[in-house]
Amino acid sequence: MRRRLGPVFSLRMFPYRAALVCATDPVSSKAVLTDQDRFVGGDAASFLAPAVGAGSLICTPPPRHLRNRKLLLPPFHGKRIARWSERIETSVETELPELLGEGGGPVRPWAQRLTIEVILRVVFGVSDPVRLAVFTATLNEFVGMGNLTVLSLPKPLQRDLGRYSPGGRFVRLRAAVHALLLAEISARRADPGAEDVLSLLLEARDEHGVGLTDEEVRDELAGLVMAGYETTATTIAWVIHFLAHNPVARDALIDDLDAGSDTLLKATITEALRLRPAVYSSIRTAARDTELGGRPVPKDAFVASLFSVTHLDPELWPDPGSFHPQRHLDTTAQPYSLTPFGGGVRRCIGTAMAQLEIETVLRKVLRVAVPEPVGPLEGARLMSVTIVPAKGGRVRMRRRAPVRPRAHQGEL
Ligand code: HEM
Repeated sequence: MRRRLGPVFSLRMFPYRAALVCATDPVSSKAVLTDQDRFVGGDAASFLAPAVGAGSLICTPPPRHLRNRKLLLPPFHGKRIARWSERIETSVETELPELLGEGGGPVRPWAQRLTIEVILRVVFGVSDPVRLAVFTATLNEFVGMGNLTVLSLPKPLQRDLGRYSPGGRFVRLRAAVHALLLAEISARRADPGAEDVLSLLLEARDEHGVGLTDEEVRDELAGLVMAGYETTATTIAWVIHFLAHNPVARDALIDDLDAGSDTLLKATITEALRLRPAVYSSIRTAARDTELGGRPVPKDAFVASLFSVTHLDPELWPDPGSFHPQRHLDTTAQPYSLTPFGGGVRRCIGTAMAQLEIETVLRKVLRVAVPEPVGPLEGARLMSVTIVPAKGGRVRMRRRAPVRPRAHQGEL
C-alpha cells in the first residue's frame, strides 16, 4: 500500500472499529508519536483492557497515564535494571540446557519460558521454586490460550458460556492470575523493602503523596507481563534464527564477543528489531479533525506509526531486506527511522530490561553453541499483536569447543 499510495494511507484492520491511518515515514511517524495535542494514546489499546485490566499503563488515557508512568518508570531505569542482571543470568543458565538439547527445534517456546521466568524474578521478586512453578504454569496457560485472540472474537463469543467456552476459560484463568497477583501484593505490603519492581511500585508516591491502590498495582503487573513476555521472547527467537541463517554476521558476532566486546551485540539486536519489530506499530487516536502528510484525519480516527514499514524503506535502509548488523556501526539512524520501542511519552518502559535480557541470552548461548539453520529462513506471521517467525524460529545448536574466559570490555 505504501508503494501505491505514498507514506501516509489508511486501511481497515481488525480489531479497530474505524479506519486506521498509517504513517510510514519518519516525519509523520514523529508527529503521531510526539504531538500529544493531536494524537492521544490509551484508547486504541482499550480492547486489551479485559486481559490486562483497565488500570494498566497500556490502556490508560492522559492525564492519568503520565501520573502512573512517573510511578512506574524508576524501577525500569537502565541502572536499576542492571542491578538485577544476576537474576536474568540465573534464569538463562537454568533454561540453557534445554535450548542446547539434541536435534533442531523452534527457539520461541524456549524463549517464552525464559521470559516468564525473568519477569517473575525481576518484576515480582519470586525466586522460590514452588511459587515460580505455580506462577509460570498459570501465566503460561492464560497467555498461551491466546487470550488476546479471545478478545478479538465477536462479543457474543467472548461471553462466559461455561468453563469450556473460550470466554469461560478466559474469565477463569484471569481470575486465577489476579488471585496470584493480589496474594503477591499483600505479602509484599506485609513485608516491605524487598528488591524488585513490585516492591518499588508499592513504595512509589505521586506529588500529592498518593500511591497506587492494590487494583492499580495488579493491573500494572498484568500489563507488564502482557507487554514484556511475547515481545521479548519473539525478539530472542528472531535474532537467533537470523544468526543461524547469516553465518558471516554470526561468526563476526561470536569473534567480537570472544574478544570481550559488546559492539556487534547491540548492533545485531537492533538489526533484528529493524527487520522484525516484535510489535509492528504504535497506535494513537486523533483528538480532533486534523491532517497527516497532507491527508485529512477525522477526530477519533485511529492513527498508527507503522514503523515495521518505515524500517524497510530502501531510502532510509539500503538493501532493507538483508540482515546486516554492521550497518548500525557505520551510520547514525535518522530520527524516527528506527522505533521498535515506539516513542514519545508512551515509549516502551521495558526497553532496558528487554535489551539486557536479549544481550544476556546471546552472550551465554554463543559462548557454548553456534546456531545453524534448519530449513529455509522463516516468514513472518502476525499473532495477535506480535510478528512471530512462522515456525517459531527453528535452529540447530552446534556445540562449540570451550572458550578461554576473556575479561569483559566493561571490566578492563
Ligand atoms: C523486545 C522487547 C519489547 C518490544 C519490541 C516492545 C515494544 C513496545 C512498543 C512498540 C510499545 C508501544 C510504544 C508506543 O505506543 O509508542 C511498548 C509499550 C510498552 N511496553 Fe514494551 N516492548 C518490549 C519489552 C517490554 C518489557 C520487557 C516490558 C516490561 C516488563 C514492557 C513494557 C511495556 C509497557 C508497560 C508499555 C506501555 C507504555 C506506555 O503506554 O506508557 N515492554 N512496548
